[in-house]
Amino acid sequence: MITLNINGNLKRVDVAADTPLLWVLRDSLQMTGTKYGCGMGLCGACTAHLDGAAIRSCSTPVSAAVGKKIVTIEAIDRARVGQVVQAAWQKLDVVQCGYCQSGQIMSAVALLEHNHKPTDADIDAAMAGNICRCATYVRIRAAIHEAAQALA
Ligand code: FES
Ligand code: FES
Repeated sequence: MITLNINGNLKRVDVAADTPLLWVLRDSLQMTGTKYGCGMGLCGACTAHLDGAAIRSCSTPVSAAVGKKIVTIEAIDRARVGQVVQAAWQKLDVVQCGYCQSGQIMSAVALLEHNHKPTDADIDAAMAGNICRCATYVRIRAAIHEAAQALA
């Protein structure tokens, strides 16, 4: 058994230590807000937070999350930055098909938690690992600036 701190709750799961965190979230715990895209750390759909850092849960073994705080999209609105980012996403109507967007929001929140005034270059660097097949990149960047202004 492995014990994980997910969104402030302790969860016990019976999985091998090298199981990807994404499988644990989606299959063991039915937390399907975190998406499966490439499974190889290349698209960002599976982004979650580990001690506040954006990580690719598809390529993070669950053993690496033991003793750390895992936050997923299901709880991102519990903190102010998450609330502001989601509000900016809604205001600017960022979402198209939506598949990539939980990962996009997780990366945006991780950026704004550490940088309240990101430049375009900061945003592009932080979001480079999050692919959007609907090409919502311009609205994502605008929404991050919108959220940054709201946090100022
Ligand atoms: S599913 Fe994890 S990076 Fe694509
Ligand atoms: S909104 Fe469709 S993949 Fe990003």
